[in-house]
Amino acid sequence: MQKRKALITGISGQDGSYLAELLLEKDYEVHGVVRRVALEDPAHRLSRIRHLLDDLHLHAGSLESFPSLFQVVGKVQPDECYHLAAQSFVTYSFEDEFSTLQTNINGTHFLLAALKECAPSCRFYFAGSSEMFGRAEEVPQSESTRFHPRSSYGISKVAGFELTRNYREAYGLHASSGILFNHESPRRGYEFVTRKISSGVARILAGEAGELRLGNLEARRDWGHAKEYVEAMWLMLQQDEPDDYVVATGETHSVREFAELAFRVVGLDYRDYVVIDERFYRPAEVDLLVGNPAKAETRLGWRATIRFEDLVREMVEADCRGVCDPALIRRAGLGL
Ligand code: GDD
Repeated sequence: MQKRKALITGISGQDGSYLAELLLEKDYEVHGVVRRVALEDPAHRLSRIRHLLDDLHLHAGSLESFPSLFQVVGKVQPDECYHLAAQSFVTYSFEDEFSTLQTNINGTHFLLAALKECAPSCRFYFAGSSEMFGRAEEVPQSESTRFHPRSSYGISKVAGFELTRNYREAYGLHASSGILFNHESPRRGYEFVTRKISSGVARILAGEAGELRLGNLEARRDWGHAKEYVEAMWLMLQQDEPDDYVVATGETHSVREFAELAFRVVGLDYRDYVVIDERFYRPAEVDLLVGNPAKAETRLGWRATIRFEDLVREMVEADCRGVCDPALIRRAGLGL
């Protein structure tokens, strides 16, 4: 039997790397779109998928170029397409609204249009985000909660979500959106607050830093583990009918709680190291996100199982392993 073919944009990111692993385990032929510069510098730019490179088919392409996406889709003829690539750092979207909107909205539109022309029976997944809820009107947030994005990033995700719905309704594409709440792992980029904290703790333990500068400690997020969230993406595309799903744990914690726990993993008190720095505050903050994953649970049979405390510990331990002397790690009582 022919292998099913999957195409992933953003394959070199945190989610892309976990999804590629999952699909390879399921015996898919896995294709990825990456920038040409990444193909030229795989050691740095493809580090998260280095261990998979022999098993993947990578294609040069860019979200900014319709012809490049059109060509890749036409050549690969995927059965499933997972669109994860985006400018995804909210802070950056305040610094350059134009490029965030342009890249994220056009990229999604280009890909949908290419699929409609070249592979109309391909199933499509769009990486929506809880940032679409922004200043949410209800707690917890579900698929029926109204969107009120608070950044150009959030606005670009609302536009991508609506484009996905429109291609489903207008052209009959099997197109689904996951409304994913924050999801983290040791593969998270260093700019996001969880990894900034876990790597900061490791550097402090190693004696390489004396403090950790953060912004708003009171913001609350629903933090899950990325490895589990990519399973929900796959499940969405296995359904007979396309639809939209909230993917979340249903629990919320503050940045302060994350920091407190992360420092506690190595026996330190966060109050001795965390310095509040106004530079890391956002012009418009999303104060509280917590999702209601009931629909994903009943329809997809998906549920988050990794607990917040275990996620924090895993991230801190992984970063300590990267920078600390083994003797130090033993002294800090880490289970490594
Ligand atoms: N990055 C960062 N750095 N955030 C900080 C800091 C800091 O020094 N100090 C406090 N925070 C607060 C932010 O103000 C925000 O309220 C919260 O920590 C989380 O910030 P991020 O980790 O940058 O993630 P995010 O919630 O803005 O967005 C992430 O999750 C979305 C899903 O809800 C990203 O992964 C998005 O791409 C994703 O869609």
